[in-house]
Amino acid sequence: MEVDREFKIVTLGEGRVGKTSLAMRYVRGQFNEKEQSTTNANFLEKNIRINETSIKLNIWDTAGQERFRALAPNYYREAKGALLVYDITDKESFWKVVSWVEELKMQADKDISFVIAGNKCDLELDRQIPKEQAIAYAKQIGAAHYSTSAKSGMGVNECFEEIAKLILDK
Ligand code: GTP
Repeated sequence: MEVDREFKIVTLGEGRVGKTSLAMRYVRGQFNEKEQSTTNANFLEKNIRINETSIKLNIWDTAGQERFRALAPNYYREAKGALLVYDITDKESFWKVVSWVEELKMQADKDISFVIAGNKCDLELDRQIPKEQAIAYAKQIGAAHYSTSAKSGMGVNECFEEIAKLILDK
């Protein structure tokens, strides 16, 4: 397939929030209840079409565990888009997104597009972060916010496509 554009995208967020699961759901249409923690990073690619443009997304899915923290700049460097993931049932993971945004604003490409994903929306009863708070924060930093579930598939295509659209529009 002929590709018009190629975009590097990175997933970032605390360990266990579902970064790999979102990427796997998006690229392979699969979900694994026992997804293992990522070491270093995973690379996945997907070809999509937005209007008349065919785009290859090169997705670097990073490891969220603290011991891999120092590797992150290698992956977000030159990325045009970042999917910042938190787990709606884990308050700390939301604050981790806030700290990633601060870091990306200082260290990443100045044109980088952000999308925030509040993942594990299938576990609504255990929610710790009010949706309104997350949406207000996203608005404040000029990012889009999506409620996602890698388990059910809710919001998954939408959040990745939004990143591609934002990059395309820059
Ligand atoms: P690290 O590789 O450690 O950074 O983790 P990660 O953010 O990539 O999380 P991962 O995709 O490995 O998922 C962690 C656990 O959460 C796994 O057991 C997944 O099956 C589970 N999980 C991921 N997404 C969802 C979701 O949307 N809903 C539910 N219920 N569980 C999920």
